[in-house]
Amino acid sequence: MLSTLNTTADTPGHDPGSIAGGACVQLRGLNHWYGSGTNRRQVIQGVDLTINPGEVVLLTGPSGCGKTTLLTLVGALRQVMAGSVQVFGVELNGSSRGERQHLRRSIGMIFQGHNLLRCLSAEQNVQMGADLLPDLSYRARRDLARQWLRAVGLDDHLGKLPHDLSGGQKQRVAIARALAAQPRLLLADEPTAALDSRTGREVVDLLKGLARNQACAVLMVTHDPRILDIADRVVRMEDGRLIDRGDGERLWGADRLPDRGPDAIEG
Ligand SMILES: Nc1ncnc2c1ncn2[C@@H]1O[C@H](COP(=O)(O)OP(=O)(O)OP(=O)(O)O)[C@@H](O)[C@H]1O
Ligand SMILES: [Mg+2]
Repeated sequence: MLSTLNTTADTPGHDPGSIAGGACVQLRGLNHWYGSGTNRRQVIQGVDLTINPGEVVLLTGPSGCGKTTLLTLVGALRQVMAGSVQVFGVELNGSSRGERQHLRRSIGMIFQGHNLLRCLSAEQNVQMGADLLPDLSYRARRDLARQWLRAVGLDDHLGKLPHDLSGGQKQRVAIARALAAQPRLLLADEPTAALDSRTGREVVDLLKGLARNQACAVLMVTHDPRILDIADRVVRMEDGRLIDRGDGERLWGADRLPDRGPDAIEG
């Protein structure tokens, strides 16, 4: 059984800015494409979305519709090509590499493929997350890493290298690492995909707890119908367009969206 960590506000954290109205994330007219010339393929088309602190937003949609691309744009992992992405008040369209790097320190990311460092133990991998927190002693960071590993049910695996862990265990280390950094925004790409249903449930409950206790906004891609109930909103994407933002506002049908930005040029 996973335990819930008491993540109190007195632990040092980051101090990101804010968007007017208090939103963590604000996307306006976002477009993105891969390739160039005749190979150019638009994968994000005129997306508008706002996410508020403490809100858990699930992003669903068919394979290849652009979910991971959207997550990497919000996570400042990709350069914004057209439209506006504001995260904690920082406009990412036209941002410098330094601004994006700085912003990423406030964002926890759990992506498919784990991205654990192979030569570091589970504990050291998670401690890397805690290392992002300013003004914490080595011992405090190590204790935080152990607490999060315990919280995801891995207290017996602290010293193991990723190589010696199962897929689900690696996924849990990646989750613990993201949470140890006490992010103000958490981006998760199918975090329960490699987990059995009970552990998957416990992990999303942890993420929900994080959102509640730390006003951390969560944007999570999932195909898992068993966890839809943790969402404040379920947003649906098809062919790069949001067809349902889960906020009750009626969106244009995909074929009736007004042309926006550079995607309109090539047709
Ligand atoms: N680096 C890239 N270069 C070219 N095309 C890409 C690249 N990354 C993704 N794509 C294409 O862009 C489209 C959207 O990909 P994306 O990974 O965002 O989809 P997804 O909704 O996350 O899919 P899945 O549910 O399978 O993970 C797909 O057609 C994909 O093949
Ligand atoms: Mg994906």
